[in-house]
Amino acid sequence: MTLDLFPDRLAPPGLSYLPGFALDEEAALVRAAMEVAAAAPFRRMATPGGQEMSAAMTNCGAAGWVSDAKGYRYARRDPVSALPWPALPALFRALAGRAAREAGFADFVPDMALINRYEPGARMSLHRDIDERDFASPIVSVSLGLPAVFLWGGRVRADKPARLPLGSGDVLVWGGAARKYFHGVAPVRKGEHPLTGAARFNLTFRRAL
Ligand code: SIN
Ligand code: FE2
Repeated sequence: MTLDLFPDRLAPPGLSYLPGFALDEEAALVRAAMEVAAAAPFRRMATPGGQEMSAAMTNCGAAGWVSDAKGYRYARRDPVSALPWPALPALFRALAGRAAREAGFADFVPDMALINRYEPGARMSLHRDIDERDFASPIVSVSLGLPAVFLWGGRVRADKPARLPLGSGDVLVWGGAARKYFHGVAPVRKGEHPLTGAARFNLTFRRAL
């Protein structure tokens, strides 16, 4: 944990910051994400309130996170194609397990990954990951491509978030007491990354079903 990135919060309980943990694999991870997206294209989903999210999303694994007028949920099939989501790549499962172990969660086996694509200006407002069935499992989050500022809030939405700059290959793991903490992403700034061009990708691994 790098304390100076959290000036007003000493080592937030439950959040592990693993800088560069996925750096060796970033090209392979981006390639695998693009293969998923070739079968289940990125799409901008609508919130239950009817607003289009600024980040585009797709999924792989046993279920995918979806949002529409009916709400947020996990669906075993891609609502766009009515097909099952592409399989979770072995590379994804292995990396998520290793990162979770590093953060103190010994037996994490994700059953899906949500893949977010942020073009410059896209953001993710403060929210909690609470649609999963299993809260004993942590969330493992891998950043690829353009940098971003991760917002790490607290138990309630009003808690002022700490700002954590994330670069390509950085991994965050949260679980335990912090599993349902609020978090988000500040608007991604313009830029070009050698691997991803003008985009940031984020993989979040969960145990959803
Ligand atoms: C999320 O909370 O689903 C995305 C986090 C991120 O893009 O870093
Ligand atoms: Fe989230």
